[in-house]
Amino acid sequence: MEKIANLKDLKKGDSLYFTYKDQKSILIRTNDDDLVAYLAICPHEGGGLEWDSSINIILCECHLSLFKAKDGSVYRHSNAFELHKGLTKVELNVDDNKDIFAV
Ligand code: FES
Repeated sequence: MEKIANLKDLKKGDSLYFTYKDQKSILIRTNDDDLVAYLAICPHEGGGLEWDSSINIILCECHLSLFKAKDGSVYRHSNAFELHKGLTKVELNVDDNKDIFAV
């Protein structure tokens, strides 16, 4: 297991990037206090992802597809293509010290 952060370092609405199995990933503490993580790689053509806490959505920088923070599923994709595959989830574990690990 790889430690990513401690829960006290991540307020609601915060996110941070980390490396998981050599791949850029994103850890998000949503405004609803869900803790989720995904590979920060768009399933369309590999674009980078950004978390927008104001709309609770993860945004692809390339073609502006949107993904739901709660489960990584597609919220909206461009009219130019179909996108049914959501984000790849990174499983998390939080220990008694509130340290967050990718498992
Ligand atoms: S690479 Fe993300 S929508 Fe195209």
